[in-house]
Amino acid sequence: MNPKRIIIDTDPGVDDAFAFLLALASPEVQLEALTTTQGNVSLEKATRNALSVLELARANHIPVAAGSVVPLVQPLYTSADVHGASGIGNSNLPEPTTKPLGVHAVDYLIERVLAEPGELSIFPIGPLTNIAMAIRKEPKFAKAVKELVIMGGAINENGNVTPLAEFNIFVDPHAAHIVFHAGIPITLIPLDATHKCLLKPEHVDRLMKIDSPISRFIQEAVEVYFKFSYERGFTGCALHDPLTLATVIAPGLLTLKEYYVDVDHSPGVAMGKTFADIFNVTKKPANMKVAMEVRGDDFIELFVQRMETLARRITG
Ligand code: RIB
Ligand code: CA
Repeated sequence: MNPKRIIIDTDPGVDDAFAFLLALASPEVQLEALTTTQGNVSLEKATRNALSVLELARANHIPVAAGSVVPLVQPLYTSADVHGASGIGNSNLPEPTTKPLGVHAVDYLIERVLAEPGELSIFPIGPLTNIAMAIRKEPKFAKAVKELVIMGGAINENGNVTPLAEFNIFVDPHAAHIVFHAGIPITLIPLDATHKCLLKPEHVDRLMKIDSPISRFIQEAVEVYFKFSYERGFTGCALHDPLTLATVIAPGLLTLKEYYVDVDHSPGVAMGKTFADIFNVTKKPANMKVAMEVRGDDFIELFVQRMETLARRITG
């Protein structure tokens, strides 16, 4: 079967970086490009991190296009407490030798998608600003995108940036509202699933048995993330963004439910809250599939095995 062709829209971000590595280690996936946005860190840092992680994985032939500097309406909101000031923890990757494309991410997404309608899946794993801008700028965009596989939202799970809201949606709730109602086929990977996918120290120890810059990067990148996760009572750090790839490499690990989902973008305590009409009280048709359950330990084992394979390929 031909690999699924994907573009990842991203705010790297430790778990974003791990999603790139998992995509590159998975023959079921063809990573076509990265488009960057503000989120975990500024756009400048996110773009640098995207270029550096691709170079680490010997994949700097993959293009990177830089996108939104700020959300549509909300002010910039970043999360150095989770991902470190650099955005990729305590890792100290060298300055990238490559540069981003000279085209804005929104224009790049429109150009690529309209050139091959129905062929390209987009995996947004940061705030949805770029995707919303593409939908608004080019009326043909929504129909030409094959699908969106979005890391974001919290349905029955508590939020991680407010008691109700998940980070990617909270940072740009107006963008999320545009994307959720654009008519594009969506699979949503919310905290309800990602909080069950915890990378633990024993997994990092396994990888460190392999003499590879990939192993060392993973170890250095998660140090800040582990501290943040322990302080919240987790026994490991949630691999939010890599779990989006389970829809391609191990769909059997996910339990998807079709729901009508909306998002509160009003400036109150619930801003950024995503909610599913589980009992269909609105009588509105479902607008997405939502991963409400996952075999989290099995996903983590798959992730670690694929990182071991990648680390054995890139040694020294
Ligand atoms: O809430 C988790 C999400 O927010 C992940 O995508 C993480 O990288 C941050 O962007
Ligand atoms: Ca992210």
